[in-house]
Amino acid sequence: LNALLMAPPSSLIVRRLAPRLSGALATASPQLCELRPLSGVARERTQQEQQHEREQQQQQWTGSKWQRVAVAGGLGLSLLVGYCSSCSSSAGRRVAHADASAHPSVAPSDPAFQVPGRVDLPVYKREEVKKHGKGAERMWVTYKMGVYDITDFVESHPGGDKILMAAGGAVDPFWALYAQHKTEDVMEILEGMRVGSLDPTEPAPVHAVDASDPFSTDPPRHPALIVNNPKPFNAETPPSLMMDNFRTPNDLFFVRNHLPVPQTDLASHRVRIEGLGKGRKDIELSVDELKKRYKEHYVTSVVQCGGNRRADMQKYKKVAGLMWEGYAISNAKWTGVRLRDVLIDLGVDPNDETIKHVHLEGADVDPTGKPYGASIPFEKAMSPEVLIAYSMNDEPIPSDHGFPLRCIVPGVVGARQVKWLTLVRLSDVESPSHFQQKDYRAFSPSVQHGDELDWNSVPSIQDYPIQSAFCLPATGTTVDREDGTVDVAGYAWSGGGRGIIRVEVSPDGGKTWYSAEMEQDPDQNQDKMWAWTLFRASIPIPPGVDKMDMVVKATDRSYNTQPETAAGIWNIRGLLHNAWHHVEVKIRD
Ligand code: MTE
Repeated sequence: LNALLMAPPSSLIVRRLAPRLSGALATASPQLCELRPLSGVARERTQQEQQHEREQQQQQWTGSKWQRVAVAGGLGLSLLVGYCSSCSSSAGRRVAHADASAHPSVAPSDPAFQVPGRVDLPVYKREEVKKHGKGAERMWVTYKMGVYDITDFVESHPGGDKILMAAGGAVDPFWALYAQHKTEDVMEILEGMRVGSLDPTEPAPVHAVDASDPFSTDPPRHPALIVNNPKPFNAETPPSLMMDNFRTPNDLFFVRNHLPVPQTDLASHRVRIEGLGKGRKDIELSVDELKKRYKEHYVTSVVQCGGNRRADMQKYKKVAGLMWEGYAISNAKWTGVRLRDVLIDLGVDPNDETIKHVHLEGADVDPTGKPYGASIPFEKAMSPEVLIAYSMNDEPIPSDHGFPLRCIVPGVVGARQVKWLTLVRLSDVESPSHFQQKDYRAFSPSVQHGDELDWNSVPSIQDYPIQSAFCLPATGTTVDREDGTVDVAGYAWSGGGRGIIRVEVSPDGGKTWYSAEMEQDPDQNQDKMWAWTLFRASIPIPPGVDKMDMVVKATDRSYNTQPETAAGIWNIRGLLHNAWHHVEVKIRD
């Protein structure tokens, strides 16, 4: 399999894991799977070493052929492609060549590329393809106008099961994430699985706008997102794809909307700055003006919902709110201008003690016309990391994430990072918004459901506490005892810029601990770490066990570590759940 994957002979771990677990587990590169017992605390790597490692990893992950996608297993299809590129069927080869000669100047990666016309095969409507979804006897996917049967591949190559995310529909949005797929080789392989074509007379699905439904103008979303609530749209990043990128691709970034996505326009959008002080008028700035007047800066930073891992807290005791598992967290590069630069330019004195808070409002409004709003302390607003951002991972911010302007407040709970930013107001009090005053505040475990709530008795959440969770493997995964170890991977992050100093994993519910390898942003230091830490480890299977209660916990720069259970942090709204994360796997002889 290794040869077929075109993986280097040294990648034993990858080789061993690929057929056994979901392909994404294989993201762990050999050097990262190295196990360190707790006693031998990992030496802090220098920035150069980290940079070198990252470059090596990136090289491995973005190799010119299929190695990266096969190894990283970003998609089952990558394995499919990695496998089949060395055994592609003659039928596929023939057809692809015929097409290549017909369109010699159009490469598969070119958007103008069309899959070959196949008059020898039947045509299908999308409804018919839909019946061949995950779990069907024969599972199909489409790419452009082609229809492909992936059943045999998935059955014989369990590592390729990520393609099942696309079963019954189009693989195109997945491939958009992994551009490496679009080569002539891949097209050949795919063509070998061709069973038909989409009916060319069937109109492409249209996104109907319904005047009575305020959500009908919401943007299209990536099919891999795990939808928690469709209206307003709330969805988690799929954990199986989370480890593929240090910066979460825009399409896979989790979404937390309280209201319909507002229809914003780049040219007419303005952010209004209010409360500048005596004699100073409010001012409105367009995106262009912001770009022209202020220096551009970027920060790689996490957005994490205050309700992340609420479903886990619910296991301890009932809580109220959207049941986020553990993936309402993502990490992106945000580019824009410093809020501080704008305010100072408009005459604000950073030492002005009469200004205590900065209110932020978005263009999304509730049925009474009230916008989403929040506030952050003035001191934080004047910190260099806080941006009025206009781009996300070097692209304009997508509609769901705040197009065209968003306030990025690194280290702070997601609720304060206001999307579709229309207003910045300086004030001596916190924002009167419902989301500041009567939400995103965590009560003591002594406060029970049904009690009268004194919202003023608890402060609004700002800096996030220390957090970590496994992304891989999924609970319930079966591992062969002879493998000797279980490969695990996940994220860790702490608010306030407190860097993660270690991540520890346990095979036995917390009796024994091992240090995991960490991947961090080499441009950030332990005291200003806004990006997340990804971790990986191979945990030894203890002798004689038939299941393992694996645990992860992280420690930050202030030596804060996660609580063992939810007992002391439980709160009626299930906010800020950061107790040890457990994943149970079965061990098979
Ligand atoms: N900003 C506006 N205008 N409207 C919103 O609903 N949701 C907040 C925050 N900013 C929200 C908003 C919450 S609770 C979170 S967790 C983050 O946006 C989610 O950001 P994302 O959807 O880009 O992941």
